[in-house]
Amino acid sequence: MKKKLVLQILAVITLIASIAWVVSDFSYEPVIVALVSASGFLILAWREQQSKHVYELDKAPDFYGKIAKMYDERNTKFLKDSHIITVKHIKEAIVDQKSADILDLGGGTGINVAAHFFNRTNITWHYVDATAEMKVAFEKNVESASFKHVSKLSDLNIYMQSCEQKFDVIVVSFALTSLPYQFDISKAASLLKEKGSLVIADIEPEYNAKYPEYAVEVDNELHALSVTQVNPLDLIESALNENLKVKFCQSIKKNDGVRYAYVIRLGK
Ligand SMILES: C[S@@+](CC[C@H](N)C(=O)[O-])C[C@H]1O[C@@H](n2cnc3c(N)ncnc32)[C@H](O)[C@@H]1O
Repeated sequence: MKKKLVLQILAVITLIASIAWVVSDFSYEPVIVALVSASGFLILAWREQQSKHVYELDKAPDFYGKIAKMYDERNTKFLKDSHIITVKHIKEAIVDQKSADILDLGGGTGINVAAHFFNRTNITWHYVDATAEMKVAFEKNVESASFKHVSKLSDLNIYMQSCEQKFDVIVVSFALTSLPYQFDISKAASLLKEKGSLVIADIEPEYNAKYPEYAVEVDNELHALSVTQVNPLDLIESALNENLKVKFCQSIKKNDGVRYAYVIRLGK
């Protein structure tokens, strides 16, 4: 990525310098240099365009399939902070329980959330993800852990619609902004046990408005998912309509004060 940026900057500098040369001395030498640098610049821009793959939300599993092997390498401090807060609230939700069933919708590789429960023998982790490569990564990560788990390759909405079990915690960590539809809070609420909690973490809409693509470079090609904006206030409003209460809500801000992510815990 850095190499590409340096080449682009060099191409722009050469182009500007050769245009200035043409202006000051209109002879065939500066004109040739200007033409060569202009074509270099155009080739670079064209190649950049060729190696970029943009995915709309209905193709999110294709995008995650491409980036699965890089997923855990890209965690920023702020993403890690959001996951730590998410995990803290799952733990708080089950603190008094002898055993717990946790449903992880869009569980990814499992490293950011599920892994914090790997040594807990009193937990059954119900993992759901729509991307085969993510499920494979999750299963590899849990291989050596003593961890009761059930993993399912499915769209999370389809899973919820046919699910008959109830859960102590449902966690949806950074999956809602990848969905091509609105998350069904009413259905999620109906899958909670009497004292169950719904923990949701995702990117703040103002951050997604600034960066509408989630772009990852894999094998010198850029893969970008056009993410959607999910406002935490809309989630809270829908949850209140389902008689859920807000137990916790935090916005995680970057050093410049820009809201980056949110974590919400809703409960009966
Ligand atoms: C940004 S990752 C988050 C992974 C993990 N929960 C975490 O916090 O690190 C989003 C995950 O949602 C999954 N996903 C995307 N669309 C989905 C859908 N419609 N149903 C289920 N999972 C989906 C992706 O495959 C990916 O693993």
